[in-house]
Amino acid sequence: MTTSSQTENDKQEQFEIVNLKNGLKSLRSLANLETFHPVTGPRVESRILYVESQNLIERWRGSTTEFVIWDVGFGAGANVTAVIEAIEQELSKGQQSMAKLRPIRILSFDRSTAPIEFALKNVDSLDYLKNHEAHLLELLSSRRVRLHQLIDWQLILSDFSQLVFVSNSSDWAAPHAILFDPYSAYKNSEMWSLELFTALRGFLPQNEVSLLTNYTRSTSVRVTLLLAGFFVGVGTEVGEKSETTVASNQLAALYRPLTRDWLKRVECSRNSAPIRASGLKKDVPISKEDFAKLLTHPQFS
Ligand SMILES: C[S@@+](CC[C@H](N)C(=O)[O-])C[C@H]1O[C@@H](n2cnc3c(N)ncnc32)[C@H](O)[C@@H]1O
Repeated sequence: MTTSSQTENDKQEQFEIVNLKNGLKSLRSLANLETFHPVTGPRVESRILYVESQNLIERWRGSTTEFVIWDVGFGAGANVTAVIEAIEQELSKGQQSMAKLRPIRILSFDRSTAPIEFALKNVDSLDYLKNHEAHLLELLSSRRVRLHQLIDWQLILSDFSQLVFVSNSSDWAAPHAILFDPYSAYKNSEMWSLELFTALRGFLPQNEVSLLTNYTRSTSVRVTLLLAGFFVGVGTEVGEKSETTVASNQLAALYRPLTRDWLKRVECSRNSAPIRASGLKKDVPISKEDFAKLLTHPQFS
């Protein structure tokens, strides 16, 4: 295990390489005590959650406009490089002339470059970054890089939990796919609040499908997404984790939308209150008022 030397003050941005149960390696944040992609490792988890669950390649191929991906919590780049590799794999099949393929815009958001800088110093352990180093270095230095004449990739260094409130929909291209990957709601609650998801919902395209995927299966996160105006479904399993979460602006885009049966679980759960800007608290059941709002959500009517 490699640990960067640290003082108490710079611990905030410190990471270490950890061995996962399956023998693969990943990064761990020392400030949050959270491992990135802890279940099956960076390559597989990113591919399942952010490429396959998003049905990303088919949706891109079927799109009639520029296909826009928001990579929220760029971190050490595993999710976004999994997406880029899936696109490159598709391009290598050469079935369609480049001229017919819609361009792709990737907006990677993070408040810090510390995870990617640490990861780039540890590519021997984090081998998912091999083949992407040159592009990542250009992205870090210029904040923008173009790949294969088709992908326009931008890095926006900002606090996303503030940015969504000070931006409007003309500032950023509307996302068809949101790779939503901050730290967990207990550690990073400002990224999971009803206020943030309500603002984020406002950036989604009006008439096209948009999907947000994430590893969580938390009842309070799902309640929060629903109250923010998303439709919410059960996402695919990843390793030992039997389900994850998919949210969308269109109910028909979800394979397994949450049903009224799930609402019964919400009623009984002790951790079902939506997350508000004041933070996530343990053991707080949903209030009568919030439950009444959930019942009127078009997903359950
Ligand atoms: C679990 S890591 C993301 C892992 C990353 N998706 C990957 O594939 O390597 C969480 C990331 O969210 C970022 N983050 C947390 N809160 C944020 C905020 N308020 N604004 C922007 N980024 C934030 C952190 O800096 C960190 O890089």
